Amino acid sequence: MKTVLLSSIVIACTLLGARAFFYGEEEGNGVGTQKGQQEVPLVSQNFATKVINELNDRLNGSLVASYVYLSMAYWFDRADMALPGFHKYFLAASHKARNEAEAIMKYINRRGGYIRLKNLKSPITVWRDGLKAMEYALGMEKDLNKNMLKTHTVASNDPHVTHFLEDRFLETKVDVIKELGEYVTRLKSFTKDYSLGEYILDKDLHD
Ligand SMILES: *[C@@H]1O[C@H](CO)[C@@H](O)[C@H](O)[C@H]1NC(C)=O
Repeated sequence: MKTVLLSSIVIACTLLGARAFFYGEEEGNGVGTQKGQQEVPLVSQNFATKVINELNDRLNGSLVASYVYLSMAYWFDRADMALPGFHKYFLAASHKARNEAEAIMKYINRRGGYIRLKNLKSPITVWRDGLKAMEYALGMEKDLNKNMLKTHTVASNDPHVTHFLEDRFLETKVDVIKELGEYVTRLKSFTKDYSLGEYILDKDLHD
């Protein structure tokens, strides 16, 4: 009896040790542990490495976008900016980008791939005015969309991935780009009194 108990403890400790080894703190930047760099054989099926890498790049893109939008949101929340509509709009955009990131992570796990989180560069923290932020957001969303289309092409042999991208990203990106384009146009149309145009858009963004 004692021997059984003792050997059980030894086995348990060994397993825990192995687990600690695999799940151990990583060193360096974005370099996964041994396990983190491997697919999960139990669920992984025809999930090409190049597609997994593409999805990890898109994950990075969504996290960076979320970070940038967060920076914008709290710039317009400053007492000397006081544009609650812009604050609200960019905060919602940050949450949306973050949800996109989580959707990608969830998808990678569903397919038995691996997640690689990368270093996030600190975003611009001074946004001058609403127009500057909207123009930046428009450029960023266009880049994100272009990259999504590239991933879609790379994954063309994997209908499950292309469906996921179409369903979750490609449609909504087009709408966001149009929306941001309209805000930029509106702000630019107030050539004589920019502040008035910004004020009116802020009211609209807040409602
Ligand atoms: C993450 O995305 C940003 C924005 O697209 C890009 O500038 C950066 O190089 C990417 N980082 C890595 C490690 O790929």
